[in-house]
Amino acid sequence: MKAARTTLRSAGVLGWCLTGALGCTQADEPPWSPQELRVIFSLSPPPTLAPSPGNRVADDDRAAQLGRHLFFDKGLSSNGQVACASCHDPIRHFTDGRQRARGVADTARNAPTIIGAPNAPFLFHDGRKDSLWAQALGPLENDAEHAFDRTAAVHHVAAHHRARYEAVFGPMPTAAELAALPAHARPRPLDSRHPQARAWAAMTELQRATVTRVFVHLGKAIEAYERKLVPLPGRFDRYVAALRTRDPSAAQVLSAQERRGLRAFIGVGGCVNCHNGPALSDQGFHNLGLPAAQGVVGVDGGRSVGADQVRRDEFRCGTVWSDATPTTAACQELRFLNPLFEDFLGAFKTPSLRNVARTAPYMHAGQFATLEEVVRFYQTLPGRAQVGHREWTLRPLPGSVVAADLVAFLQTLTGPLPDARWLGPGG
Ligand code: HEC
Ligand code: HEC
Repeated sequence: MKAARTTLRSAGVLGWCLTGALGCTQADEPPWSPQELRVIFSLSPPPTLAPSPGNRVADDDRAAQLGRHLFFDKGLSSNGQVACASCHDPIRHFTDGRQRARGVADTARNAPTIIGAPNAPFLFHDGRKDSLWAQALGPLENDAEHAFDRTAAVHHVAAHHRARYEAVFGPMPTAAELAALPAHARPRPLDSRHPQARAWAAMTELQRATVTRVFVHLGKAIEAYERKLVPLPGRFDRYVAALRTRDPSAAQVLSAQERRGLRAFIGVGGCVNCHNGPALSDQGFHNLGLPAAQGVVGVDGGRSVGADQVRRDEFRCGTVWSDATPTTAACQELRFLNPLFEDFLGAFKTPSLRNVARTAPYMHAGQFATLEEVVRFYQTLPGRAQVGHREWTLRPLPGSVVAADLVAFLQTLTGPLPDARWLGPGG
């Protein structure tokens, strides 16, 4: 009997235990308990698209087409070399493979994927933006990324995307209005002597509002595009679907090692405390006490800085630029956000783990090159937090958890890339 079982197992045939209990897979592997099944079911299928109350054109296909063109357009940068897609490259699941992103100059953070970003209530590792459209306007004017400015963006769109723009948002400024705008101008609250800031201050209020309105529309079109980039089901989701229907072939969808990893992930590993729900993220902010990133000077305050910035952001929920009224539930969240909350110090957003095997390196500053390194970190939690304190609930993994099992499980979260027509600028 023993010999027979071993043979069958090594041949990969014995996928379902003899008692037939749900999720029971091998004679020496306990079946999933009802509690475990509840947790597993809560992680799949991938999240559906949440509404975007601040963006009237969030689900307008023409806006998405315009947004797609903007996303791949290097003309929206000071040196003509940088597009959103430079750092969010479709073939790398919308990341760049670098520790820290480089645009016109070096940045201090790792470029996260955009697939699934539409479901995050706060954007960036520190959550300093509260909508995807407001987020998109950040890199355009960031000196290390596109290093562009809003009047230049308006001139560029008028010259290269006018028809697509006008089909969604109506007429662009007239030729005379455009001619009266400086080539390069934008607000710079921290540097009022900068030539762009002076040019901005010299414009009329009406001109500033006209330019900012077009600029905001670009963000909203980009968001409409990004909403096409939803995470698609991977092997893990097929496993969960099979468990749900009590399909005995479930055990063939994930290997025994991958199932052991899943068991640790939802059990003694404690990963689901933060990586939960269909995105495998609580969308919260936590201080893991990560090692300093090599080559980065200073400490990163993370959420405590981001929370302060989002409350004052020019484009936050409920401003004149947002299509949501200040009383929208989405805007209420901002009112109760307290940047001084001590757990925010050094905390960063829990990333979704969907497609995580495709988005190395990891963590907000690319501290880890591989999933093995990430899991090794959780195993021992070496060192202390750079700033603030490590989340009290975090404990080194128990010795019974095998790192390779967790890594194997994380690899089952990879789904296919979004529909090919969204993966390039197209015609
Ligand atoms: C120079 C590289 C670079 C360019 C260019 C760039 N990004 Fe990013 N992107 C990053 C980095 C780095 C982060 C994280 C920064 C942070 O948290 O401070 C990021 C974050 C994001 C996020 C947040 C994702 C999340 O889960 O919070 C989105 C969405 C995004 N970028 C979209 C865009 C769009 C749209 C553009 C073009 C308008 C763009 N990016 C241009 C590097 C880049
Ligand atoms: C206390 C909450 C918490 C727990 C528990 C937790 N994580 Fe995380 N995880 C995070 C946060 C926050 C980050 C991002 C940290 C950063 O960028 O500074 C992260 C990042 C990651 C990343 C890198 C993802 C990326 O795209 O960079 C992986 C992989 C990961 N966690 C896996 C796990 C596994 C496996 C476990 C269980 C052993 C686990 N996590 C437990 C909060 C948590």
